Amino acid sequence: MKSLPKLCLYDIMYKTVKRGKILSIIADDNDFNQKSIVTKNPVVKPDFDEGDKTFENSIRPKNFDTYIGQSSLKDALKITITAAKKREKTLDHLLFYGPPGLGKTTLAGVIANEMGVPIKITSAPALERPRDIIGILMSLEEGQILFIDEIHRLNKVAEEILYPAMEDFYLDMTTGKSQTVKTLRVPLPKFTLIGATTKAGELSGPLRDRFGIIHRLEFYNEEELTQVIKRTAQILEIKIDEKGAKAIAKRSRGTPRIANRLIKRVSDYAIVKNDGEIDEEIANKSLDILKIDEFGLDTTDRNLLRLIIEKYDGGPVGIETIAAAIGEDSRTIEDVCEPFLLQCGLLQRTPRGRKVSPQTYRHLGYKLKNQSSQQTLF
Ligand code: ADE
Repeated sequence: MKSLPKLCLYDIMYKTVKRGKILSIIADDNDFNQKSIVTKNPVVKPDFDEGDKTFENSIRPKNFDTYIGQSSLKDALKITITAAKKREKTLDHLLFYGPPGLGKTTLAGVIANEMGVPIKITSAPALERPRDIIGILMSLEEGQILFIDEIHRLNKVAEEILYPAMEDFYLDMTTGKSQTVKTLRVPLPKFTLIGATTKAGELSGPLRDRFGIIHRLEFYNEEELTQVIKRTAQILEIKIDEKGAKAIAKRSRGTPRIANRLIKRVSDYAIVKNDGEIDEEIANKSLDILKIDEFGLDTTDRNLLRLIIEKYDGGPVGIETIAAAIGEDSRTIEDVCEPFLLQCGLLQRTPRGRKVSPQTYRHLGYKLKNQSSQQTLF
């Protein structure tokens, strides 16, 4: 076994008083004597079934039967869950990676429901101070699932606190100062960590190695997205026919979150123009108004691709140059725009930067590079 890092960086004197979900922590070096009572843990989002008030939560599937798509991943998870239940053991730690909006949080909730255990949901940027991660770990119940979104953004200290917690279910802490320092090993309940990331490559090796199960989520195909749209429409009592659902699915760039967002916008248009009923024509007209083209590209995507064609002769060009030129954050481009553009072949990533493909020229109505970069259609 690897040597486990101790939390010597801090003099952490802690006192936890669990009163239901009330947790009080006297925490790290900087505010050693400062008592901070966390009456409502701000780093934890509402439990999955609790406070089901947001739009996204209200339409989240709660079990495998209602979760559409990701079929091979679902099959693998069903086996893992059944085996864990038979053994009466907690699930191994799981890591989900893939582009945003494909249902990583939803899947974590489904797993919790299928396991019959509660889930705590948080994200790495909310775990800034040692006390944040310690507080959450100490508030867990036996068997509970802890979901950490954007886990690649966890800082080094939080990561080091997590290692022994994930591996052997304890926290290593030191109390006191210099000569009087004492090491304390605090046992934790057995829990399952589910980490989610859009950037698996940015996860440190030691953290990645502590996940027993690692899965990639794939983009949804048109048929799956059509089913997602019909299901959402039913929950929201929106009238939509098969062709209307398909038309929205086609422009949802393989992503259920986008499909669910678009159905609301199309529904608004349908209420104004068609008594609330969505058919193919209404769907296409409203998506045209939203400037979402038949590939699902929006104005930002097209600006990005046009820039590469018009100013850089198709590329390659660096991401920072693109970001500055179109006035977008490079991280947003990398995390939000690029995954789908790469997937559908409209953009390519090379060691020298981003470049477009012949298909991009055709899609945006330009003559191919070796002819002329003059726009011909739009
Ligand atoms: N809504 C968002 N993602 C979904 C999925 N995978 N299945 C059903 N409904 C969804």
